[in-house]
Amino acid sequence: MTVEATSHQSGAEASKARRVRGAKVITTLKEMRLTVERWRRNGKTVALVPTMGALHEGHLSLIREARKSCDRVIVSLFVNPLQFGAGEDFGEYPRDFKRDHRLLTAEKADALFAPAAEELYPEGFDTRVVVGDRLTQTLCGLSRPTHFIGVATVVTKLISLTRPHQVYFGQKDFQQTLVARRLVADLNLGCEVMVLPTVRETDGLAKSTRNVYLSQEERLAAPGIYQALKLAEGMLQVGERNPQDLIEAVRKRLRNETAIEIEYIAAKNAETLEDLNILTGNVLVAVAVRLGRVRLIDNVVVSVPAGS
Ligand code: PAF
Repeated sequence: MTVEATSHQSGAEASKARRVRGAKVITTLKEMRLTVERWRRNGKTVALVPTMGALHEGHLSLIREARKSCDRVIVSLFVNPLQFGAGEDFGEYPRDFKRDHRLLTAEKADALFAPAAEELYPEGFDTRVVVGDRLTQTLCGLSRPTHFIGVATVVTKLISLTRPHQVYFGQKDFQQTLVARRLVADLNLGCEVMVLPTVRETDGLAKSTRNVYLSQEERLAAPGIYQALKLAEGMLQVGERNPQDLIEAVRKRLRNETAIEIEYIAAKNAETLEDLNILTGNVLVAVAVRLGRVRLIDNVVVSVPAGS
């Protein structure tokens, strides 16, 4: 299959950036492999922070943590066409290579890996990594049935190319973190999956690349998402154990914001994504909503001791 050449960060800009000072830009698989090989030979530990660019504080927090644990940090910038469904925002997804390069230079990333789509998915590329339905055909997978195939495929490729000791994800994309853990374990990819807390605006809205699409009215309504999740967290802490009642309370809170259209509200086992009859253990409360044309997700995980 052929993946459109327009999908990458901007091959021309990446090539230009190779010639300016700052974070080292790598665009070919060969150079990426050789670079990692050299680092590993010299006993260096390597972290990978996979991103689709348009970096924000959430990404930067991952990079800073990676820096603390590993000798070398690779940040991949690749808007992965495989994880966008028909009619989704692949074409408009924000791309600002120069800004990302500047930020990564300031963060002292050791390598910025920005392959073109045809480098990662050359003519004839025809393999997909499919993680089982239990983790992928629920929550976001219901409205985006091929999304996690795209994510799993690109994450597997990025890990196999960069051979990191650790790979970093943010908790906001909670389902993605479970998919990554599963495939790393099942395919023996030999790295540790690190998941760091969601970084938020001061009003609680989770940092997300897609926040830039919000109108003023939508932006004002958006903190209602986290407020609804905090309400659920509070209810769990004071003894709510009935999933329907919890979900109903979250729904009611979200309905206060007329701009918010609910896609799903779920309370699930945070390891398996199974439904719970009684809310105990590590409980994931997750929501997906639409604000106009913008789809936003967020979640909290609450530890509820059995018998409490
Ligand atoms: O979370 C993202 O930005 C993407 O899903 C990822 C992990 C970089 C794969 O394209």
